[in-house]
Amino acid sequence: MFITFEGGEGCGKSTHSKLLKKYLERKGHRVILTLEPGGTDIGGKIRSMLLKGKKLVSRYSELFLFAADRAEHVARIIRPALIASKIVISDRYVDSTTAYQEGGRRLPKDLIDLINKVSSESLVPDITFLLDVRPGIGIRRGTRHTGKDKFESENRGFHDRVRKAYLRLAKREKTRIKLISTDDAVEKVQSMIREIVDEKLADKG
Ligand code: TYD
Repeated sequence: MFITFEGGEGCGKSTHSKLLKKYLERKGHRVILTLEPGGTDIGGKIRSMLLKGKKLVSRYSELFLFAADRAEHVARIIRPALIASKIVISDRYVDSTTAYQEGGRRLPKDLIDLINKVSSESLVPDITFLLDVRPGIGIRRGTRHTGKDKFESENRGFHDRVRKAYLRLAKREKTRIKLISTDDAVEKVQSMIREIVDEKLADKG
């Protein structure tokens, strides 16, 4: 089973993915929690190239770096873990590229779809949780302790486009993508997530 978490800045993905991992482990499953960008050795380097500092990278090199990170991630971490019957939880995956590079950076949809397909080896998650948060609230929440990285420093228009692109995706892929508002308390959001995962696990037998 392959589960991904998506959403704008400060939406609570990392909190919820960690809580879900603990829950599933308590139920006896073997689970790995991983992330993009940065789940592999090369990925770690790509992550710091993309997020640290204010230096501008062209929109295309940014896209290709995220794609390179994903190709490594799928080949070295995600596929092998799925083959070993582990549950894989990834904090961000292909939908981040659609939301940020197509929505935020306004790159062409055809190119993004192709790059996503190739970099992921067409591996589609069983469930994707889209944690929705209004950009102003999320950025304040997400940068309280750490300061802003390159994406968090983008303007409001960028983050609004990212959110719209996510919501469009959720409309288009209603079965896979579970849209969850993060206005509720963490416990309530987490219990909705667990319910959906439990149902899917029961379906899979
Ligand atoms: P991260 O610090 O992990 O942010 P967050 O905690 O919000 O997930 O940084 C990841 C950043 O990279 C985030 O701003 C979104 C961006 N990103 C893309 O633009 N495209 C992608 O394909 C991926 C995976 C991430």
